[in-house]
Amino acid sequence: MQQHERRIVRIENIVKDFRPGFGLRVKRVLHGISLDVNDGEIFGFVGPNGSGKTTTLKVLMGLIRATSGEATILGHSVTETAFRREIGFLPENPYFYSHLTGREILGFFAKLSGVTRGRRKARISELLEWVGLDHAADSRLETYSKGMLQRLGIAQALVHDPRVVFLDEPMSGLDPIGRVEIRDLVLRLRSEGKTVFMNTHILHDVEMLCDRVAIIVEGRIRYQGVIEDLVGSGLHEVDIVAANLSPETVLELEDRLAAKLRGVGERVEIRVAEKEVNDTLRCVLAAGGEVVSVTRHRVSLESFFLSTVEGGSEIGE
Ligand SMILES: Nc1ncnc2c1ncn2[C@@H]1O[C@H](COP(=O)(O)OP(=O)(O)O)[C@@H](O)[C@H]1O
Ligand SMILES: [Mg+2]
Repeated sequence: MQQHERRIVRIENIVKDFRPGFGLRVKRVLHGISLDVNDGEIFGFVGPNGSGKTTTLKVLMGLIRATSGEATILGHSVTETAFRREIGFLPENPYFYSHLTGREILGFFAKLSGVTRGRRKARISELLEWVGLDHAADSRLETYSKGMLQRLGIAQALVHDPRVVFLDEPMSGLDPIGRVEIRDLVLRLRSEGKTVFMNTHILHDVEMLCDRVAIIVEGRIRYQGVIEDLVGSGLHEVDIVAANLSPETVLELEDRLAAKLRGVGERVEIRVAEKEVNDTLRCVLAAGGEVVSVTRHRVSLESFFLSTVEGGSEIGE
């Protein structure tokens, strides 16, 4: 690792074709994707199911070969193996032997990852505590909840203290508490200086956690950048909440401003473009209505994401 290299992961124009079998048509799953992950960030690789996230991660982990293109981690081509001790990996559906205990499993992976015998015991205790499983260290995995198994999976990815950690859907299938626990662990990883690459389709987690994201849809990157730029790039709209409006006024507003109106109890929420705010307020007041609040509407990651997926538009850097 060169000191000056800030880009921890680089993917350049990766294409992946699967050949289903003799005589069958080639299926292109990745259509030339490119992205960069910077040192010390939590990077979210976001997309609907089947968009190519796991395939990309398998290319990065050297589990499958790209059809063309190049990918490097810490300056090494992913086709090399020597640098693998610098990276940790939590697969999508980690499989652990259920009759073993958490401590035994970590011992197994520590040995595989080349943690020296002398360090192993202390490292495993440290990790079990770090992921909050010290109380269950000597229980068999068949007694673990899904959240506990996922935390064990993260501990497994960290046994050899890697610099970069790759997580494939770490929060999927977890209840809200389990998700918060994993989220905390991911944030702690960053605070300890690690770089995290995370595949996910759960947008709320992305908003809470990620410094930068890439959105992949059907094997193509639709956006790459910081989330604030992404949600800020939508049209600016303003939500006005008004009260005491007669049905006639509501209809008139709808006609005149082509505004989106929504009744909320006695109140009406009016979403208008920024330039129509003053007109709308005048209209409300002139009709004897009362303005309750005026707030800028923040385009959520979710609505942006849906419009990207449906509209097929290409936005961003
Ligand atoms: N070994 C394979 N052979 C053929 N098609 C595959 C193979 N692995 C994945 N795919 C296809 O590639 C697409 C992307 O899958 P995947 O990378 O798992 O998506 P994601 O992780 O975003 O849900 C899917 O259409 C999937 O069916
Ligand atoms: Mg996947």
